[in-house]
Amino acid sequence: MTVQPLTGDYRVPGDKSISHRALLFSALAEGRSVISGLSMGGDALSTRSCLESLGVIVRSVNETLEVTGAGLHGLKEAPAALDAGNSGTTMRLLSGILVGQRFPSTITGDDSLRRRPMKRIIDPLRVMGGIIGGNESDTAPLHIEPSQQLHGIDYAMPIASAQVKSAILLAGLYAEGTTSVLEAIPTRDHTERMLGLRRSRTTDGMRVSVEGGWRIAPREYRIPGDPSGAAFLVAAASLVKNSEIAITDVCLNPSRIAYLGHFLSLGASIQLQRIHDVAGEPVGDIAIRSTQLQGTLRIDASTVADVIDEIPILAVTAMAAGCGVTVRDAAELRKKESDRIAALVGNFRALGVDVEEYPDGFAFEPKNGLIGSEIETHHDHRIAMSFGVAGLVIPGIQIKNPEIASISFPGFWNAIGRDKE
Ligand code: S3P
Repeated sequence: MTVQPLTGDYRVPGDKSISHRALLFSALAEGRSVISGLSMGGDALSTRSCLESLGVIVRSVNETLEVTGAGLHGLKEAPAALDAGNSGTTMRLLSGILVGQRFPSTITGDDSLRRRPMKRIIDPLRVMGGIIGGNESDTAPLHIEPSQQLHGIDYAMPIASAQVKSAILLAGLYAEGTTSVLEAIPTRDHTERMLGLRRSRTTDGMRVSVEGGWRIAPREYRIPGDPSGAAFLVAAASLVKNSEIAITDVCLNPSRIAYLGHFLSLGASIQLQRIHDVAGEPVGDIAIRSTQLQGTLRIDASTVADVIDEIPILAVTAMAAGCGVTVRDAAELRKKESDRIAALVGNFRALGVDVEEYPDGFAFEPKNGLIGSEIETHHDHRIAMSFGVAGLVIPGIQIKNPEIASISFPGFWNAIGRDKE
């Protein structure tokens, strides 16, 4: 099988996490914000359309979006249930905002999102005085009623989740007093960076706080490239012989690029270049050259929260390079767009890998000479893209529903030279 090496400069879509937040925070600001580089993926579009249903005016102007902020209290009751599509970030962050409104809302999503756990936001939002509930299993659709008055809480996070942290802090904008979230295990910190929230380190972890009524100023958002999207190109350029690329203008927030350390530990050749600051986020280029990867990928409690979105591509890259893998303490992977442990294990086995599955992970020994088969994506963008990259070096891999990649990475198949997929 002949695959062209990847060479030259690449760009990835705007960061998904920052895109959601730029839209939400612009909507709550008083005045006009301008967003450039927004992700055009399905998830960010879900946030945009939910905000439009809540009366926020969003206009495309040339390559940018103009959002006319409604202010903290200017959202309007939506005419129908809000549809968050496939996007957990949309549903969870928006719920934090909706519990503070003077009107009722219902928020739902696609089959995958309606299976994902919402108790993790329902519980703390109720403690704040929010009136929110799902169906019997605490899943969407979520129904939210106006409450008398939210009050601030000091919440020690029982799980590591930036979405839950952000939902609570956003509800805190509408609460009396101070709302704090204490994280024993740090998660991505875009909400606190972008809103300029107070952070303090304690013996138990990091506490982030917001005061009720905290004003969000309208501003210009320049959204850097998505490091989680870049991970697929890092993998492709590492695996395909004679590749040498630079992925330009990527968000290099430390809470997002821990996965590079795992590539490096397998012997990848990666350098960060042109690092500069864009509105509080470090941004730069990731340069990669192909190398022979070797060794064993090991992920455990010490890193799992920092690489939660990149475990599929890390494990699939290791498999494709003939490396071993041990992933533990990663039960959260079962709660993503699909049960990613089951999805990975099922597809590894279909490719002939002898995998041990655990409740919180999986493990396998190095195996060479794998033969491709049809890959079940479970309608999960990261599963589709991970095995799509493996298909560059393992003959015969066919991806079912490849179009699901557009949830976070429109143009992905073209970027890796498999646009006939
Ligand atoms: C996200 C947080 C993570 C991540 C998701 C985006 C965010 O989810 O998996 O893709 O933007 O806050 P959890 O917070 O549920 O771990």
